[in-house]
Amino acid sequence: KVIYLKDYQAPEYLIDETNLTFELYEDHSLVHAQLVMRRNPERAAGDAGAGLPPLVLDGQQLELLALSMDDQALTAADYQLDDSHLTLQPKAATFTLDSTVRIHPETNTALEGLYKSGKMFCTQCEAEGFRKITYYLDRPDVMSKFTTTVTAEQHRYPVLLSNGNPVASGSEEGGRHWATWQDPFKKPAYLFALVAGDLWCVEDSFTTMTARDVALRIYVEPENIDKVQHAMDSLKKSMRWDEEVYGREYDLDIFMIVAVNDFNMGAMENKGLNIFNSSCVLAKAETATDAAHQRVEAVVAHEYFHNWSGNRVTCRDWFQLSLKEGFTVFRDAEFSADMNSRTVKRIEDVAFLRTNQFAEDAGPMAHPVRPDSFMEISNFYTLTVYEKGSEVVRMIHTLLGAEGFRKGTDLYFERHDGQAVTCDDFIKAMEDANGVDLTQFKRWYSQAGTPRLAVTEAFDPAARTYTLSFRQSCPATPGQAEKLPFVIPVELGLLDAAGNDLPLRLAGEAQAGGGNRVISVTEAEQSFTFVDIAEKPLPSLLRGLSAPVKLSFPYDRDQLMFLMQHDSDGFNRWDAGQQLSVQVLQELIGQHQRGEPLQLDPRLLTAFRTLLDDESLDQAMVAEMLSLPSEAYLTEISEVADVDAIHAAREFTRQSIGATLFEPLLARYQANRAISRETGYVAEAAHIARRTLQNIALSYLMQSGKADVLAACLEQFKDCDNMTERLSALAVLVNSGFEQEKAEALACFADYFKDDPLVMDQWFSVQAGCGLPGGLERVQALMEHPAFTLKNPNKVRALIGAFANQNLVNFHRADGAGYRFLADHVITLNALNPQIASRQLAPLTRWRKYDDGRQQLMRAELERILASGELSSDVFEVVSKSLA
Ligand code: ARG
Ligand code: ZN
Repeated sequence: KVIYLKDYQAPEYLIDETNLTFELYEDHSLVHAQLVMRRNPERAAGDAGAGLPPLVLDGQQLELLALSMDDQALTAADYQLDDSHLTLQPKAATFTLDSTVRIHPETNTALEGLYKSGKMFCTQCEAEGFRKITYYLDRPDVMSKFTTTVTAEQHRYPVLLSNGNPVASGSEEGGRHWATWQDPFKKPAYLFALVAGDLWCVEDSFTTMTARDVALRIYVEPENIDKVQHAMDSLKKSMRWDEEVYGREYDLDIFMIVAVNDFNMGAMENKGLNIFNSSCVLAKAETATDAAHQRVEAVVAHEYFHNWSGNRVTCRDWFQLSLKEGFTVFRDAEFSADMNSRTVKRIEDVAFLRTNQFAEDAGPMAHPVRPDSFMEISNFYTLTVYEKGSEVVRMIHTLLGAEGFRKGTDLYFERHDGQAVTCDDFIKAMEDANGVDLTQFKRWYSQAGTPRLAVTEAFDPAARTYTLSFRQSCPATPGQAEKLPFVIPVELGLLDAAGNDLPLRLAGEAQAGGGNRVISVTEAEQSFTFVDIAEKPLPSLLRGLSAPVKLSFPYDRDQLMFLMQHDSDGFNRWDAGQQLSVQVLQELIGQHQRGEPLQLDPRLLTAFRTLLDDESLDQAMVAEMLSLPSEAYLTEISEVADVDAIHAAREFTRQSIGATLFEPLLARYQANRAISRETGYVAEAAHIARRTLQNIALSYLMQSGKADVLAACLEQFKDCDNMTERLSALAVLVNSGFEQEKAEALACFADYFKDDPLVMDQWFSVQAGCGLPGGLERVQALMEHPAFTLKNPNKVRALIGAFANQNLVNFHRADGAGYRFLADHVITLNALNPQIASRQLAPLTRWRKYDDGRQQLMRAELERILASGELSSDVFEVVSKSLA
């Protein structure tokens, strides 16, 4: 069934108060709900004549045990029940509804609603999981005050948590106890949470900008209590940052985070009680890489920031998801940029966007940032809603400037506090606070697809003018053949022969401004003429990726090398390097396809040597710039992706780099590894940068196959004191031809870390991503490993996900065995956990990118999934849309 945005109607009834009592047992649980309800005055206009409409409550997989309205017991004759609704007829405009249902968290493998992760009970209600807990109006525009009592066996579940503040607790007969929590803020049901378990916590406190003390607690299973400090530090930084940058103060007396092992996504912003995938909370140097530490910091911030952008101001309906997600991703990205290197953060985010979101935008599931229809909302927690949504907010920030943007968010929060609103309301606040008109800009919310921006130049030496001409277009996407022009903010500079930014003055302007400015391209074709330009400049365009578009400008390789060295914008220095690599790699891909010997343009090596020789450069930047575009990115930018040619070209380039730049790479490696040995692990930015460069150098050096490099790699693997160095050394070994050392290292690592599931995830991933021949067989063997289980989403992602998304040459084996493998597991997962099944499916939906043979094989697997029996709405939507 398809749901449309245009069909939105306000709810017929509201729920002022929600009083819940949970009785948790080992073989079932009981949920008593008392809902204090009334007719929505907004909908009551015609009631006098027509009477009250029926009350239609959502509910799935619930066993109804008792139901009463205003203390009158109802019988089967008084209501209608089907597998997703309970319908009854209110007699008065205000009433209280009491229900008791039985549910089975102990067998809930979908990890939605109330379920068990290991020995603890926990919940995940966004988007529509609350209806698996009790009969309710499970929609975000129904906001209610919740009081929750949890009762459970004291010994197994000493900790009982829910949203808000603890108000009472006590013990009962038979070894049971209870606790009551009250949340003073009205909230939609998707923000409800409950946790019961044997948990330990680390406690800290935060003093807010108005000097209120907030208790901070992070709950984990006892064995993880030593991995919580980093998340706690990140939380305190986030709370301070949101006060300083957005003026947002925390509002309850307590803020809790709980880590659970079995979780479909990264984390969830439930009011006052965030529930996290343990992979996004737990981190210490010995078990988590630098990248994992940064992810923890970012996700803790993201969920904390939702308290305002999501909870205090929430979404009217799920089509507005990007209202909270796009905005909150933008907020967490800016936070990470402020805490770490701004340029490196931007590079990482853009590489991710271009590789993954651009692919989504070009595929069968392409949808606008605000979709206008869906079958299953879980399928729309996408890169488009999150990452492109964040880019859209970033563009508003670019257009209005930091101050104007802040005026807009102040007005937004003030105007809509306590409300459930739309993306239009967000834009309206931006417009009203700044006196601007964003009507055309809003096309970013309604039109799908990645716009193309083709730029050409014309220099007139006599007139001393330089003209840039822009032509924008956007490919058709499902349901949208034609697109209207977007507002595309283009941040740019013009470099003179020395590499300096020229002062910029557009024709008609009185005087020149600085060397960096933003122009808005709003027409399909539009030119901008700069005056007072004495010699032909080199343009640096779309700095910082100022809009999520695909830019083309006819740069030659020497110009790209010049930009790599001189652009005042660090991001564009990196981007110039990426464009140079892409040109060089595409040339090699062509040679491979024509059966010619591969010949690498030496300019790439020259450019890389220059980077390695310049000791003044930030090492994190050097590492980013030495990283070749991934196979996935090369696939995305190909018309038809030749998997084998892409792999061959990229591996050949890696080998050439390792051989030609052996000396400078070794020097960098040795110097940095020596610092690691001397100082031990230090979590600071400069050391993170140093380790990143050290590890990328090692991976190139290992291409040589030299015995000394192997020795260095083994030394690092054995003697280091942190996971960043250990895992990199392991990955380098796994991708090498040193079979015996590889086997020993893998075995030794697994033996040492066998009891740490998050480390074992990394062990699985490193092997699943290995592009050497035999990848599928290795993954199949690993599925039998005792640490693997399809029931844990992190394990599925670490092994199946890493294989299908990061090991393209093996996944896309010409005989289709990789596709069959994925489809088999999607079919199994469909019954176990539909959300995970649907997400793992994505690589098969990209079939249009490949040659005819592979297209046939991929489609055949999609057809097989479609015919495999009863499909969840999650899997059905993705499969049917990708075959359409
Ligand atoms: N709101 C959460 C976050 O981004 C994610 C919730 C995911 N829920 C889901 N059904 N997929 O912070
Ligand atoms: Zn979020």
